[in-house]
Amino acid sequence: MDTRKNLPPTIIFIFGGSGDLTKRKLIPALYNLYLDNFLPEKHIVVGIGRSPSSDDDYRAKLLEGVQEFSRRKEQTEKWSEFSKNVFYQSRDLEDDGSYKGIYDYINEKGTEWGAQPNVMFYLSVAPQLAPVIATKLAQHKICDDTQHTRIVFEKPFGHDLESARELNKLLDSLFKEEQIYRIDHYLGKETVQNILAFRFANALFEPIWNNHYIDHIQITASETIGVEDRGGYYDQSGALRDMVQNHVLQLLCMIAMEPPTSFDSNEIRNKKVDVLSAIRRISVEDVHENAVRGQYASGWQKANEVPGYRQEKGVNAESPVETFVAAKFFIDNWRWKNVPFYIRTGKRLHEKITLITIQFKEAPHYSFPTEAADTWRPNRLTFSIQPQMDIRIRFQAKRPGTEMVLTPVDMIFNYAEAYEEQEPEAYETLLEDVIEGNQTLFMRADQVEAAWEVITPILEAWHKRAPVDFPNYSPDSWGPEDAEALIAKDGHFWANLPSSGKNGNHK
Ligand code: BG6
Repeated sequence: MDTRKNLPPTIIFIFGGSGDLTKRKLIPALYNLYLDNFLPEKHIVVGIGRSPSSDDDYRAKLLEGVQEFSRRKEQTEKWSEFSKNVFYQSRDLEDDGSYKGIYDYINEKGTEWGAQPNVMFYLSVAPQLAPVIATKLAQHKICDDTQHTRIVFEKPFGHDLESARELNKLLDSLFKEEQIYRIDHYLGKETVQNILAFRFANALFEPIWNNHYIDHIQITASETIGVEDRGGYYDQSGALRDMVQNHVLQLLCMIAMEPPTSFDSNEIRNKKVDVLSAIRRISVEDVHENAVRGQYASGWQKANEVPGYRQEKGVNAESPVETFVAAKFFIDNWRWKNVPFYIRTGKRLHEKITLITIQFKEAPHYSFPTEAADTWRPNRLTFSIQPQMDIRIRFQAKRPGTEMVLTPVDMIFNYAEAYEEQEPEAYETLLEDVIEGNQTLFMRADQVEAAWEVITPILEAWHKRAPVDFPNYSPDSWGPEDAEALIAKDGHFWANLPSSGKNGNHK
């Protein structure tokens, strides 16, 4: 049975077609969408790059990527069906002739298919090229049909508030907001989307989702890798721009937003902007009280000896750029008044983990005798986004035995056990949404700017005062000691996932 949705013919142009993202993420995602019958019946994918290549050589290179990175490996017949619709064009993206070529190509395809195609332009290029391409696409009238053309931007979206505003202004002068898809790949993650289902499809949690019951919230997005071969980019960016401005603040929005009245994309995005606008702006003078930065030293990551950040390729040998951030935010509204949101993210940390912890307040009164409490722990709800995908609720239970002894235990919803289907990769979800014209999981212009506003005081304070203690954490650690102090001074500690998964093993 053909389960394919009735989607109009589609051309997907990937600018940066010979780049790493195309090979690792975009083509594997499109291939999986093809296997699942989610691509329109008539579609073609055109990779655009500078270097010359034949279609066959290009396909062979992409196949390597699928074999290495796709969640489903190549199936010979399916791959040849899919790849015969993948083409390569070598074009200079600063040259007007290239855009004339693209324009003609779209018209030819339209004539061949007997229908006007939807056209997606995916900009997987160096940030400085994005405005050039956008301007030329508009100048050559390639995106005039606002119903049929969509432009996808990869991060970074701006380098700071000012440049993000400028870019938004430019795009606003060239396209309609409905054509613009700003990617934050965290929003495509299955477990991230499930936060909304958890909160708004269940009546149980919403009544306690506020400052009466919640003590504080933590978001950890840690990585074990260093900057790999992206030193050049990263040294202009740092963890605050690379992870906090986008992914971490988006997670925070999902947890903190008000219930939307519908699943309309603008309604959901409005509610997120409300959160970002309500985050208390830290004054530049107070940044040291509320934010901690770190940079990894050389050392050992498990069994491997690894270089320090300053020794990485493409990185300045005296770089002041942070590879770790921990910060405390407050949201000034009725729901969240005085509930601290602690966030931390960094590279070369002990574990790759993305975790959101909702720490509830203590029970108002302990009726049990003191000796009954082996370990008292207040309730805690944890969303484990990756790599382990689960949601767990911690509560006190009686330990089996003749004595009344209480210990904390976890009730766990585990994706792998609950479902047989393998979850799609974030890019599959996001590309499908672009094809279908659904902007819910993409960043609107005001959202991007509001997120920049939140981190601007931290950027400014750190820019003004160069760090004096870098490098200040070892690989395979949980970051600098100051990050522990940031939360410890409020009487808390950073939560990790219980390592054994066995109950009664809580910190
Ligand atoms: C990217 C950052 O946006 O997200 C990278 O630029 C980071 O530095 C990556 O490694 C993390 O994504 P994920 O999906 O592996 O958590």
